[in-house]
Amino acid sequence: MKTYHILTAILIIAISTPLLSQDGNSVSSAYLTVDATAGTETISRHIYGHFSEHLGHCIYGGYWVGYDSEIPNTNGIRNDVVEALRDIAIPNLRWPGGCFADEYHWMDGIGDPATRPKMVNTHWGGVTEDNSFGTHEFLELCEQLGTEPVICGNVGSGTVKEMSQWVEYLNFDGISPMADLRRINGRESAWGVKYWGVGNENWGCGGNMTADFYADQYRRYATFCRNYGDNRLFKIAGGANSEDFGWTETLMKKIPHWQMNGISLHYYTTNWNNKGPATGFGEDHYFEVLKRCLHIEVAIDRHIEIMDKYDPEKRVALVFDEWGTWYDVEPGTNPGFLYQQNSMRDALVAGLTLNYLNARCERVSMANIAQTINVLQALIFTEGDQIVLTPTYHIYDMYQVHHDATLLPQTLEGPDYVLGSESLEAISASASMDKEGRIHLSLINIDPEKEVHMEIEIKGLSSGKITGQVLSSEKLDSHNNFNEPEEVIPVEFDGARFKKGKLELTMPAHSVVVLQVD
Ligand code: AHR
Repeated sequence: MKTYHILTAILIIAISTPLLSQDGNSVSSAYLTVDATAGTETISRHIYGHFSEHLGHCIYGGYWVGYDSEIPNTNGIRNDVVEALRDIAIPNLRWPGGCFADEYHWMDGIGDPATRPKMVNTHWGGVTEDNSFGTHEFLELCEQLGTEPVICGNVGSGTVKEMSQWVEYLNFDGISPMADLRRINGRESAWGVKYWGVGNENWGCGGNMTADFYADQYRRYATFCRNYGDNRLFKIAGGANSEDFGWTETLMKKIPHWQMNGISLHYYTTNWNNKGPATGFGEDHYFEVLKRCLHIEVAIDRHIEIMDKYDPEKRVALVFDEWGTWYDVEPGTNPGFLYQQNSMRDALVAGLTLNYLNARCERVSMANIAQTINVLQALIFTEGDQIVLTPTYHIYDMYQVHHDATLLPQTLEGPDYVLGSESLEAISASASMDKEGRIHLSLINIDPEKEVHMEIEIKGLSSGKITGQVLSSEKLDSHNNFNEPEEVIPVEFDGARFKKGKLELTMPAHSVVVLQVD
């Protein structure tokens, strides 16, 4: 114990002592310990999940171009997008909303596309939805992507019968009205969809319900979402908005846990009164966004505390199925389409959030960034036949190493990033061990100006081959667009060395470094 205190004191002195970088600027220092001998929890790959709604150009133009398009496609789905998402091994895809889910009637999206009824997408721009992308097209997309579908049912304006029939249509392999209808529509075998959301934001766009009313509705809906064959459904209750802890408490109290595998949570990194621009921002807005992002920890930890009270065995998962940055739309674009640029700042938000979700993987078993293409914190932009990968995409690429790896316990002491009278922890870290025994570290420095020297002590490992990548940028709002698609891309990082058994590196200002130690 005493040794620990002496070490801590030395560390604090070391942390507060500035070093000098090669160019003579001051460098703070941080100390990370990772125990490679003590990992017990698995970081579910589903934490790296995605969300795509019938909103703006996420589905239409993003994935779907139709059978007759000149844009290279397979069965109407863009090949470039599929290839990009396969490259980052997206583990799941949540669909069709969002708010759209609670006004979507799935039967309008099956059968001959020419005769499918049209509807108004009242939430998102009031545009006409022609239902050409429906259930079969979505499942085809998931097959092409090699990803698990997560389907969100309609509780707000639908019926128990409608949702129950959707489950039967997708999952029953025998003779039944819905299975027969599926066959008429060209699909012989059931898809066996496991993940089902029972409504979305039912406290708001999903019906403006009270928590008590929704909990009762959930019990009805969940009862009639049946298991067919060996497929055990994973049912996700529509959870709280940000810090509405009462909603989580009511659902945990009123819904029998055997009926609910997960409870969702939505948290957007935004100031709803003044969202601000996606690029061209000052340091004050940079700071504010990162502060709100780091506040996710406080918010989620409180939801977890409530869940722990009612479910100490952690049977019910926290499913963080909508998160990300939300800014003003790009000038001249439809306000209902939520189209925003994506900069190095968004990459930092993604990295910080994923580091934190890794740390809570005991309770958080799934998360979905909003939204994959052309909407909010997008990974991909498309325009005609062009495609651009955003800085956020590159984080998902670099962080793939954590999929289904074992979380390694860590302690971190580091400097603060200070702006005026406020400060944030400058360094964030996450460490895991993969099935081959390789260690992966994702390290972030949010300080816009200062490099941070890091010393990393890995218990159980004092040497090894190190490889790495770094994502950094000239400016805080550097981004990729159709003219300059590679302004922010990861490059090799060879600045990490073992010195006297410890790993040392200098983190560039506003950067993300991912290291692998063999
Ligand atoms: O992601 C955009 C919207 O944000 C979703 O439709 C809704 O669930 C949330 O309010």
